[in-house]
Amino acid sequence: MSTTLGLIGGTGAVELFECLERRAIETPWGSPSAELARVRLGASEAWFLARHGNPHRIAPHRVNYRANIDAFRQLGVEEIVAVNAVGGIDPELDAGALVVPDQLIDYTWGREATFANDEDRPLVHIEFGEPFSPALRARLLALGQQADLTVHDGGCCAVTQGPRLETAAEVARLARDGATLVGMTSMPEAALAREAGIAYASLCVVANPAAGVSDEPISLEEIDAVLARAMGGVRRLLSMLG
Ligand code: HPA
Repeated sequence: MSTTLGLIGGTGAVELFECLERRAIETPWGSPSAELARVRLGASEAWFLARHGNPHRIAPHRVNYRANIDAFRQLGVEEIVAVNAVGGIDPELDAGALVVPDQLIDYTWGREATFANDEDRPLVHIEFGEPFSPALRARLLALGQQADLTVHDGGCCAVTQGPRLETAAEVARLARDGATLVGMTSMPEAALAREAGIAYASLCVVANPAAGVSDEPISLEEIDAVLARAMGGVRRLLSMLG
C-alpha cells in the first residue's frame, strides 16, 4: 500500500497512532528529527514524524526542517497535516481550542528556510499567498464537523523564534499585525513543504492565552495538561483522514 499522507506531531503529540514500522531516513540536509513511523490511521496508513524528536528534546529553532520535509518527499508523501501547539492571541480562543489557520506571518530568523540556498540547486520562488493548502484545510474542517469537534476555520498564525514565550508587548504587536495565534514551528516548515510540492495544512491546538491576553501568568504545567487533554480530539480527527 502506498502511504501518501504525512503527519507532523508537535509538542504534546509525539506518539499518536499505532506504529507499524520505523524508518531511518537520511537526506542531503542531515537527519530528520526522528525515525519516521508508518502508522495505522483508521482504515489507512500515514507516515508520522515527531517534530521535536522522540523523546521531545529539539527546540523549535533547532529543528532540521529541511531534513524533515525531504524525508517525507523521499517516502512519496503528497500531503502533510502538521499539529502545532500555539498561544491564543484572539481572546475568543480558549485553551484547548482547535484552529485550522489560513494565514501566517514569519518572525523567525537564522533558520535554514529554503532548499534553494546553494548554487547547485535550482532557485525557486514559490507562490505563497495562501501558505496552507485550501483543499487540505477544507478536509480538516469537514472531518472536525463529522467528529463533532469545534474546529475554528481560519486565523493568522504568527511564528516566533522561541524557545522562550513572548513578552506581552510582543504579543500586542503581533495582534496589531493581524495575528490571532502565535507558535514557533509553522515556518519554515510550511514554505519548505510548498517548495517540495507537498500540500500542507496546520491543525493548531491552543495551549494557553498568549502573554498579556489573560491576567493570569502562563503556567507551563497548565500548558502540558491542556495539550494532553486536547490530544484525544486531535487523534480522533486525524484518524479520520485515513
Ligand atoms: N507562544 C508561542 N508558542 C507557543 C505558545 C505561546 O504562547 N504556547 C504554545 N506554543
